[in-house]
Amino acid sequence: MTTPPNPPRTFHVKSFGCQMNVYDGERMAELLGAQGMTAATDGADADLVVLNTCHIREKAVDKVYSDIGRLRREYGSRPMIAVAGCVAQAEGAEIGRRAKSVDIVVGPQAYHRLPSLIADAVQGRPAIDTDMPAEMKFGALPGRAQRQRPSAFLTVQEGCDKFCTYCVVPYTRGAEVSRPWAELMDEARALVDAGVREITLLGQNVNAWDGEDEAGRPQGLDGLIRALDRLPGLTRIRYTTSHPNDMRDGLIRAHAEVESLMPFLHLPVQAGSDRVLKSMNRSHTRESYLRLIERVRAARPDIALSGDFIVGFPGESDAEFEETLSIVRESAYAQAFSFKYSPRPGTPAADMDGQVSPEVMDERLQRLQAAINADQLAFNQATLGRRTQVLLERKGKYPGQLVGKSPWLQSVIVENSAAAIGDMVDVEIVSAGPNSLGAVILEKAAA
Ligand code: SAH
Ligand code: SF4
Ligand code: F3S
Repeated sequence: MTTPPNPPRTFHVKSFGCQMNVYDGERMAELLGAQGMTAATDGADADLVVLNTCHIREKAVDKVYSDIGRLRREYGSRPMIAVAGCVAQAEGAEIGRRAKSVDIVVGPQAYHRLPSLIADAVQGRPAIDTDMPAEMKFGALPGRAQRQRPSAFLTVQEGCDKFCTYCVVPYTRGAEVSRPWAELMDEARALVDAGVREITLLGQNVNAWDGEDEAGRPQGLDGLIRALDRLPGLTRIRYTTSHPNDMRDGLIRAHAEVESLMPFLHLPVQAGSDRVLKSMNRSHTRESYLRLIERVRAARPDIALSGDFIVGFPGESDAEFEETLSIVRESAYAQAFSFKYSPRPGTPAADMDGQVSPEVMDERLQRLQAAINADQLAFNQATLGRRTQVLLERKGKYPGQLVGKSPWLQSVIVENSAAAIGDMVDVEIVSAGPNSLGAVILEKAAA
């Protein structure tokens, strides 16, 4: 154990994973802040570094171990190192064996106990907690910080019961659980009071959220969205990630009817071949997916569609990969993420026959990404000349620039703006590149 004997006073949280992992990182930072610790800008000034890890692909895991080594080389024994997140859940005590200088291991459902784990580590006691307590952590966390950025995440649902054969999430995050309505409405109100104008509702299967409203009526995600739409001061609502099988009529209707619900849907399909989809245990087909996006587009014609793809799933033939390319053509994505299949220990696909060679995967990924990039550019170019609204979120690269998001989740760079971060501005789109748009402000929109 290399830990200094004193309780840490400064901390740095580094998040590596999905948006829910980022949300967890923010909650951990707020928890440590509520304990009287202060945030350091990076590892150099921190008495405690929290590596909030991701286990989804092999590369993500390797990065954690190299980061631990780098921290010790650069900062010596000073910082206490905590490994949090999905690698902590999956590897548990093994982390301490592989990286002796780790002081704390805490899983994604147990991080509310970070203060007592820190106390244990200071005393030289083992500090590992990968429990998945029946009581959710959220009730034990302090309220949200009183200053927030204009756009915030709010985890409403955690875990996954789908067990896609390639995926670790059901093991690292546990079963699907929805947070209760009242707790979510309270957190949303606190966020708006702290300056938030846009909330992105998060869940590994966010559209599987269900619960009861304050009158005891059963509600789905669409009901929650409609209630949030009535919150004064909240102007934009988004949600991610959705599973095709949980995309119910009410939610599709909400896209037609709820003004603050942004026209964007991340709906991963993963592959275009029914045989591959079946082997992935996706429980939807190519056809059912395409029909579903037709219904969504009928409700909200301008919706920007996004997706996730895996190339080189075990047994994927050239012809089956061509079906992935053709589903991309048919779906016309505004953006999409694509990954090379990464075998994950303990998942069924890792033991399947027909593992695809790295060279074939590389070639397929390049072709897929070229197709996706072309669609993304076409989508961006189609917004040229359009008048729309942008929520300004941060400064740009050059003086005078501010950057925000369009309703369709495109990054929009506004030049020489007299507006401020947090403003919602009316703009005209004047340029369109592959990754961002340029715009001029027409006038400051009413709040
Ligand atoms: N719950 C979401 C997202 C899960 S993880 C969903 O079902 O869509 C995000 C993405 O990582 C997945 O959509 C998938 O495309 C990718 N992914 C998951 N496991 C993977 C693996 N073993 N190898 C490569 N990509 C993977
Ligand atoms: Fe993983 Fe599938 Fe669950 Fe998404 S739905 S988290 S890909 S198991
Ligand atoms: Fe990674 Fe865990 Fe998210 S494995 S993608 S951080 S749920």
